[in-house]
Parts: sequence; structure tokens; C-alpha cells
Amino acid sequence: MAVLGTSLDPESAQFARDRQAMLESLRPFSELARQVLAAGGERAVDRHHSRGRLLARERVDLLLDEDAPFLELSSYAGAHEPDGQPGGRLITGVGAVSGTECMVIANQSTVKGGSLNPAAVDKQLRALDIAHRNRLPVISLVESGGADLPSQADIFVPGGRTFHELTRLSAAGIPTVSLVFGSSTAGGAYLPGLSEYTVLVKEAATVYLGGPPLVKMAISEDVDDESLGGAEMHARVSGLADYLAEDERDAIRTGRQIIADLRWRRAGPGPSLPADPPVHDPDGLLGCAASDPKRAVEVREILARVLDGSRFSEFKPLYGTQLVCGWGSIAGFPVGVLANNGILFSEESNKGAHFIQLANARSTPLLFVQNITGFMVGSAAERGGIIKDGAKLINAVSNSAVPHLTLMVGASYGAGNYAMSGRAYDPRFVFTWPSHRIAVMGGTQLAGVMSIVQQRAAERAGRPYDEETDARVRRETEEMIEAQSGAVYATGRLWDDGVIDPRHTRTVLGLALSATHSAPVAGADNFAPFRM
Ligand code: COA
Repeated sequence: MAVLGTSLDPESAQFARDRQAMLESLRPFSELARQVLAAGGERAVDRHHSRGRLLARERVDLLLDEDAPFLELSSYAGAHEPDGQPGGRLITGVGAVSGTECMVIANQSTVKGGSLNPAAVDKQLRALDIAHRNRLPVISLVESGGADLPSQADIFVPGGRTFHELTRLSAAGIPTVSLVFGSSTAGGAYLPGLSEYTVLVKEAATVYLGGPPLVKMAISEDVDDESLGGAEMHARVSGLADYLAEDERDAIRTGRQIIADLRWRRAGPGPSLPADPPVHDPDGLLGCAASDPKRAVEVREILARVLDGSRFSEFKPLYGTQLVCGWGSIAGFPVGVLANNGILFSEESNKGAHFIQLANARSTPLLFVQNITGFMVGSAAERGGIIKDGAKLINAVSNSAVPHLTLMVGASYGAGNYAMSGRAYDPRFVFTWPSHRIAVMGGTQLAGVMSIVQQRAAERAGRPYDEETDARVRRETEEMIEAQSGAVYATGRLWDDGVIDPRHTRTVLGLALSATHSAPVAGADNFAPFRM
């Protein structure tokens, strides 16, 4: 198989500029990471520790196999909210427990009692979705104040889906385990209630539909926490607890034993190709995204630093050249790659649709590398049938059944986002570089289109057109769209599963691919009719 070369010059001024711009775009994420790791701040952490409790992150660390990597997801959920604490008061991610890759969901009770706000609900649902589609056992580390009461209107209805999903994935044969360390109240009680295995920590876990004050109010009964929903009561009387743990560490040990006893078998094939690192230094990835969005970047430079041994067997290299397609592997798992090298014309669309069908015929997962400003517009493209060719690509992407991983490295605009397996097209995982932009179109273009529309409307109505107002509105629109197109906003809203340092791309994609192989890997039997 051909080994990709490079023409990137790390000594050049251009490379230095691009690298610097990428490092700048990583900076806000260092601050967000600091906030997430602060876990609610010193006061909350000290109070928690003084009660003899472990932090959510400490619990996750102890649960995972020693030195096992943890593919943390949606780390900055809610980061787009101006006064929001990033992280969604939860930690979610994929990691090995007793040798089995699991989805771990841990409440951060030191952040607002671990209560579930809108970001937390979205993040928890996304974690359950990933677990379901990739057939990953789920372990919930529970300690939460339940619904975030001030934002109840935003979470009550969608939040109910958590319990629906939990029982659905259990019905699909995916094991669910709850380790309860503290409060698990009201709706939250259904987390252990619907899990297949429950472990409750003695003198710490409290699980009830209504706490003592509510019971007093509703039925005038005086009752204490322990008798109402303590671990001993649930282990000896109600039967909700399958295991009574002496302390937190005992609960984690029991959780690890439950997973070991599953004797879980992955349903997908193991890695089958050599997993040697790329021949080109991954540090070069910092210079692989143009600091000026108008300048084209060569996507093969990225592939050369991500694929095993930089090996890439390109498909149709002379046709539809702005969509690079071909076969390679990551961490030994074969992948078909579709990577943008410019906008999509009819040829690129047809080539992509063909390639996706081949990957499905061979049951090979697909990696989409997005840097796409959209499909070609204009009369030549329309007459050439760009709509029906784009529809073929969207049909192929939508009905493809092999796992998709999507990596956004630059622009992700318009229907290009859809055709390249954007979030709405159910890729198993979506990761982005901090420099990426995501929107219907770029801010300048969008503001320009709105200006033309308004100018025409004024002409039709016989109103004078005020150039000064137009310039101001254009500027404001552009600023708003730019702010909503950036990586912080996008990841805050969970349009992706994480923003990654470009240098970690191969590691992250390797872990994600491994997770997808917990489920069977099989191609689609059927696509919708392709419009010819
Ligand atoms: N919604 C919003 N905020 C909540 C919350 C909830 N359900 N539960 C706790 N919090 C906040 C508190 O206001 C406090 O905020 P602060 O840090 O700004 O002061 C923080 O979380 C810690 O709460 P606190 O009560 O001081 O901590 P604790 O460890 O002593 O107790 C709980 C934690 C969860 C046991 C307790 O807060 C509680 O019982 N909460 C209400 C649970 C409930 O009835 N939920 C209804 C679900 S439908």
C-alpha cells in the first residue's frame, strides 16, 4: 500500500503562522478544562472530602483498569452558556473496566449537587445513545440532587428519556450497572431502579421517590433518611440493592467484579492490520489547518499523520479530486476515508456515494474528514444535476450501516455538513479541532445574503434603502454568526462529542474505533433508490 508523503515544511513562515493560530484556538479550552477539573471549586471539594467521599473523577479513576485510557466525551457541555459551568455536572466517557470497554456516567455532586440541568440531560442522553449504538455496557456512578429545580421547565420532559433509554438498551442485551454513592432522588431513583445490577454504599446512598420533607408534606409521615431509602433498607427490605457495599471503594470493587462476571464478548472483529504509527510527526497536525480560511489545505497531510504507517490506498485519485477517498487503518482497524479537499461538485458526490457503497459491501467503518464549505452553486452546477448527485451522497451516508466517525478540521457549512456525516446523520462519534467552524454558511456570506434579501424587499415596497443601517446590521449579524459557529459554542451545545488537540487525533480516533467494534460491524443491505 502507498505511503503518503508530505510537502509540509515545518521551517516555513506559513507553517509557523498556522501552528501559532492553532495553538491560539486551543487556549480557551485550557481555561474550560481548568474549570471542569475544579469540580465545583475548592469549598465544595473540601466539604465533599471531609464527608469521607470521593470526587466523581476519583471514582472513575478507581473504576477503570489501571493505566487504561479514558475517552472522555462532551467535556465542555454547556460551555456556550455565558454563566454556565462547563461539563454538565457529569463525567461521561468510554474506558476499560475489568478488560471490558464500558460507558461510564458519573454525577459530579460537587457541582450544584450534581443536579441535572439542560446540558447534563443532553450529555447523559448522548452517552446512553453512544452506549446503545456501540453495544457498550453502562456503569452509572450515582450521586445527584436529581432535576435542577430552577431549570425544571427545560429538562423535565426531555429528561424522562434517560430512563426510557436505559431500559431500552438493557432490553437490547446491553448490561447496565448502578453504583450509588449518595443521593438518588425522585426521577433519579429510576437510575438504580432500571439498572440490571445495583450496588448501594452503606450509610451514604439514599434512594427514594420523595425525601423526608416531601413525605411529611404529602402524607404527614415523620421518617428519617435511612429508614426511608438507606442502603441497608434497600438491601434487606425493599430488594432494590443487589449488593450492600461497606464503603465507596468496596462499591467500586463490586462494580468491577460485576463487569468481570459478564464475560462480555465484543461482537465486532478485532484489529486486523499493523498498528504502527504514521511515518510523519503528528506535531505537524498543528500546521495542517489554514489560519486563513480562504487558503486551501491539503487533506492528505492530515491523513499522513493519522493513518497507520501513513499508508493510504487511494480510490479514483484522478476523478472528483476534491473528495479524497481511500482505504487505510487506524490502530489496526481498517477504515475507508472520505476527506474534503475543496467543495463538492457532481463528480465528488458520485464518487463519495460509490465509495460508501463499497465500504458497506466490505463491512468497513468509515472516517469522514470534514473541511467543507458546501456543494457547488451556480447555473453550471445546477444544470449538471448537483442536487440529484448531492442527494445520492446524502442517501448513501444516511443509509450506510457501517460505523461512521466524523472529524471536523475546518469548515463545516451547509449541506456539506450533512453529506459528510454531520451530527444529524448519526455518526458513532464526532470530534472536532478547535479551529473548526460550523454553520449554515460563513458569517460574511450569511450577512451578505440577508442584506441582498432586505435590499430587494425595500425596492419592491418602494422604501428607501438605508446604507448605514445595512452596514450596521451586516456587522452585527456577522458577529453573531461567527460567535455561534466556533468550537466553544458548538461543543457546548453537544454538536460534537469533543474538541481535541490535533496532535491527539490518531489516539482519539483509535479509541473511538475500538469502541465501535464492541457492536457487530456490518454493511447496509439496502439504500434508498439512487436518483440517476
Ligand atoms: N436543583 C438545583 N440545585 C440543587 C439541587 C437541585 N435539585 N440540589 C442541590 N442543589 C444545589 C444547592 O442549591 C447547592 O448550591 P450552591 O453550591 O450554589 O449552594 C448545591 O447544590 C449543594 O447542595 P447542598 O444541599 O448544600 O449539598 P448537600 O451535599 O448537603 O446535599 C442533596 C445534596 C442533593 C442531598 C440536597 O441538596 C438535596 O436534597 N437536594 C434536593 C433533592 C431533590 O429533592 N431533588 C428533586 C428532584 S425531582
